[in-house]
Amino acid sequence: MRASKRPIEQLPEPLPAEPMAMLGTWLAQATREKISPNPNAMTLATVDASVSPPEPDARTVLCKDLDTENGIIVFYSNYHSAKGRQLDRVSCATAVFHWDAYDLQARIRGPVTRCPVVESDDYFNSRPLLSRLGAWASKQSQPVASREALLQQLEDIKARFDIKNPRDPAEDKVIPRPENWGGYRLWARNVELWIGQRGRLHERGKWWRELTPEADKMISGPWQSRRLQP
Ligand SMILES: Cc1cc2nc3c(=O)[nH]c(=O)nc-3n(C[C@H](O)[C@H](O)[C@H](O)COP(=O)(O)O)c2cc1C
Repeated sequence: MRASKRPIEQLPEPLPAEPMAMLGTWLAQATREKISPNPNAMTLATVDASVSPPEPDARTVLCKDLDTENGIIVFYSNYHSAKGRQLDRVSCATAVFHWDAYDLQARIRGPVTRCPVVESDDYFNSRPLLSRLGAWASKQSQPVASREALLQQLEDIKARFDIKNPRDPAEDKVIPRPENWGGYRLWARNVELWIGQRGRLHERGKWWRELTPEADKMISGPWQSRRLQP
């Protein structure tokens, strides 16, 4: 028995002209109902082309914005991390949401670009001071000698910004965003929405469109769609 009434039971017939609005309602309900501790968590797969032949890599990140109109998923990370270096080399990714309690899955694949710096600045400034200091203190994906060494890096950053207790609201202040930390936009080019059904005859809808890079955005062709067998 499913614990919660899910946002949808079956895909509409015919399929909606585009998938992002439906994905938006799924994410919104999962967030509203706090269906899990991190309802916006998604698996982000990238390509590691530093080995031959290239291998897939994947990890969890949080979706911080879903722009349904333009078909963009936003997440934040360290540009020098393993995923950052992989995206520098092969600038496309797949994100997978799985809301187990709803028996829903969404796969989103496409090109990845960095967010405009003002957007990254705004989001960075909205984070708790400790998280902002952490972004400075951690050279994400680099080796570190010990936990103690990592904590010392945080102490060094606190000293640099003259902060004694980052949890004390009186000490809160604006600190700059590290240049190597910021947002990414995953532009949905291929989307699959999956709705679990009895007897394994699940519902699968697939949508795709052409994306043409232009300046710092993508120009979208019309969405096309097909139902898939489970
Ligand atoms: C629930 C959860 C949420 C996470 N969110 C993020 C995130 O938004 N950004 C991020 O860089 N890492 C996040 N992480 C850590 C990543 O999974 C990963 O360890 C880190 O980004 C380094 O990955 P990389 O070495 O492949 O670059 C999260 C981990 C978990 C378990």
